[in-house]
Amino acid sequence: MGAIGTVSALWPFFASLSPARDTIAAGAPIDVDVSTIKPGQQITVVWRGHPIFILHRTPDELKMLQEAKDTGLLRDPDSQQPQQPSYAANWHRSLKPEHLVLIGVCTHLGCIPRLEAAPGGDLGANWPGGYFCPCHGSKYDLAGRVFNGVPAPLNLPVPPYNYIKDNLMRVGENPPGINFEISEIEQI
Ligand code: FES
Repeated sequence: MGAIGTVSALWPFFASLSPARDTIAAGAPIDVDVSTIKPGQQITVVWRGHPIFILHRTPDELKMLQEAKDTGLLRDPDSQQPQQPSYAANWHRSLKPEHLVLIGVCTHLGCIPRLEAAPGGDLGANWPGGYFCPCHGSKYDLAGRVFNGVPAPLNLPVPPYNYIKDNLMRVGENPPGINFEISEIEQI
């Protein structure tokens, strides 16, 4: 079992974590201490070769996810496409509303989107905050739900994960009694 408690906003940083690389490459679940991820902060870990975003959303960000000015712009606001396990097919696309867990791979052609959580700015006055993929301009909200009118066809995938303690997340393992395989995701 790999164990990652280090916080970083830069996913390439994890390429240098040699003690965990063999474990990660083998596809074993990895444990992440989420207690140190402050509201508004995201860390990235690597599981099965994929960047895994873990974002601690603020109350305002969670509120936005339920407002029509966000959901009205989305292609699949109710997560009907099989891009997540059943326990993430809800308005916040996660087990606990505050923690978003995504496979950080754009569903267009596989670039790594970047977090642009602040509303407005360079992405326009209507930008509610979310993820932006600079490769071809795909946009996702702060639940990884894709916007209409961008090249990416599907929401960002959610991997299997669970909490084995209140603040200890295990990426790669479902909650008890649930069988969900990453192969069930339509597109990564
Ligand atoms: S790969 Fe993300 S927009 Fe093309």
